[in-house]
Amino acid sequence: MPDRVALAVDGTQISCEAGITVAAALSDASVTRLRASVTGEPRGVLCGMGTCLECRVSIDGVRHQRACTRLVREGMDVATMDAAASSRPSAVGVEPTPLDCDVAVIGAGPAGVAAAVRAAESGARTVVLDEGLAPGGQIYRHRPGGEAPEAARRWIDRLAQSGAEVVGGASVFDVERRGEEAFRIFAEAPDGARVVTAKRLVLATGARELFLPFPGWTLPGVMGAGGAQALLKSGASVAGRTAVVGGSGPLLLPVAASLAKAGAEVALVAEQAGMASVAGFGVRLARFPGKLLEAARYRSAFLDTPYRSGTWVAQARGAGRVETAVVTDGRDSYEMACDLVAVAFGLVPNTELARLLGCQLSRTGVRVDADQQTTAPGVFCAGEPCGVAGVDVAIAEGEIAGLAASGDKARRRALEGARASGRALAARMERAFRPRPELRSLARPDTIVCRCEDAPVSALASCASAREAKLVSRAGMGPCQGRVCGPALEFLFGWDSDTVRPPARPALLGHLPGSN
Ligand SMILES: Cc1cc2nc3c(=O)[nH]c(=O)nc-3n(C[C@H](O)[C@H](O)[C@H](O)COP(=O)(O)OP(=O)(O)OC[C@H]3O[C@@H](n4cnc5c(N)ncnc54)[C@H](O)[C@@H]3O)c2cc1C
Ligand code: FES
Repeated sequence: MPDRVALAVDGTQISCEAGITVAAALSDASVTRLRASVTGEPRGVLCGMGTCLECRVSIDGVRHQRACTRLVREGMDVATMDAAASSRPSAVGVEPTPLDCDVAVIGAGPAGVAAAVRAAESGARTVVLDEGLAPGGQIYRHRPGGEAPEAARRWIDRLAQSGAEVVGGASVFDVERRGEEAFRIFAEAPDGARVVTAKRLVLATGARELFLPFPGWTLPGVMGAGGAQALLKSGASVAGRTAVVGGSGPLLLPVAASLAKAGAEVALVAEQAGMASVAGFGVRLARFPGKLLEAARYRSAFLDTPYRSGTWVAQARGAGRVETAVVTDGRDSYEMACDLVAVAFGLVPNTELARLLGCQLSRTGVRVDADQQTTAPGVFCAGEPCGVAGVDVAIAEGEIAGLAASGDKARRRALEGARASGRALAARMERAFRPRPELRSLARPDTIVCRCEDAPVSALASCASAREAKLVSRAGMGPCQGRVCGPALEFLFGWDSDTVRPPARPALLGHLPGSN
């Protein structure tokens, strides 16, 4: 592979490192306004992981491509802000590539990789699908072909040797049960559709960030905390940028650390949880010395930066992109110059595919038994969809699910301790970092809540439910299908997320079942 590639962005030639994403290349070229919203507002990267669809650009004349999920290529032609008048290619008539297996694993994060390894090593024909370009999920995100982080390498090498077939870049948009012991999984990959037939399923679809609206949160340059980290891991340079990191939860620490290590000036880490909650959680961590050490290591990477608890970003300001952040502790507010605001309020489990299959949910995620079996026969679930609990739990649950799905339940016992202690810590974490009620009043009447449909608070405030909001304002009906605004609406108005329907991810018409 050449070291550098040349591509055109809105007609201007740029050169960038090979193997990085289009979003990273655009960020390095100071192109932060990627698409125009339905009311013409500029938008840029928010989630960095393929969920929000805010980074859509035209690539080689094909519209609506997620810049954060596509790698740069020599001669690529990228058009932002819908500058290119281009037509969408028809995929009607494209025959999907079929795959047949005993166990299909959806998601190749720590949980999915562990499940696939255990299933394949137990002799099951195993297929793993992930919309990411390389296995590893969010925590172990790395460039395809690049070196995986050390902590991930053991599992990723084991996956490569296990005999499991890994299909990267494959977005699963539908799953259906076909009789007692068969499922069909429909996915869209860059080179076409895939249909996988499996006897058993392991859902390991992870989590996404929780975004809560505040004035200015749609400005380019305001993104998720993990979103900024994902952009960085996919090749963007942040050297010389000034960042305000905010929101809630332990994730703020690795994010601030990685931004600082990459040369950004991290001006502030604003943790909305109060001092007593953060300190109480820290005391609890003493029982997990490894975690405490990890937190201290992250903190040491940005020692010059204040970490303020009981503080949050109340507003982002700028003309066309973020230039300042207004930060408050509820009494005093101050404005800080910055060109990157990385804010998220924790994580939301991805349960769409589980819900499509009729799996029951608890308050925290997909309901599972001791074998990680859901309430839907033949469907197992592991990691964050069962409730946000971190990487160690994800791996333990993935192993248990992979063993159980391949019919090998005897070895579960050894993994139960890690699962139980991790889940207990996660319950503490959820309580300690729960978003404070004051965050509900940040959004003003004209603050957009649904970024796909540009639906502001004023269009939603008189509605009684998410369903009514959809009818009145189309909130939740855009391409992200409510993955961003659904949890925000739940927090702001107490509305349950609405029902889920296929396709669970946007897909070309020709790739939908029955279209050929
Ligand atoms: C943006 C982000 C950054 C994070 N950074 C850190 C960090 O720095 N440190 C830390 O300790 N924890 C971090 N976490 C938390 C960490 O991800 C979890 O603790 C844990 O590793 C989760 O493992 P998992 O396998 O359950 O999920 P994930 O790692 O999220 O893996 C889920 C996988 O499923 C895939 N997927 C989801 N839906 C589909 C679909 N429909 N079709 C195909 N594939 C699909 C995704 O592409 C992903 O690869 C982060 C979380 C997020 C959301
Ligand atoms: S930033 Fe690319 S989909 Fe969210």
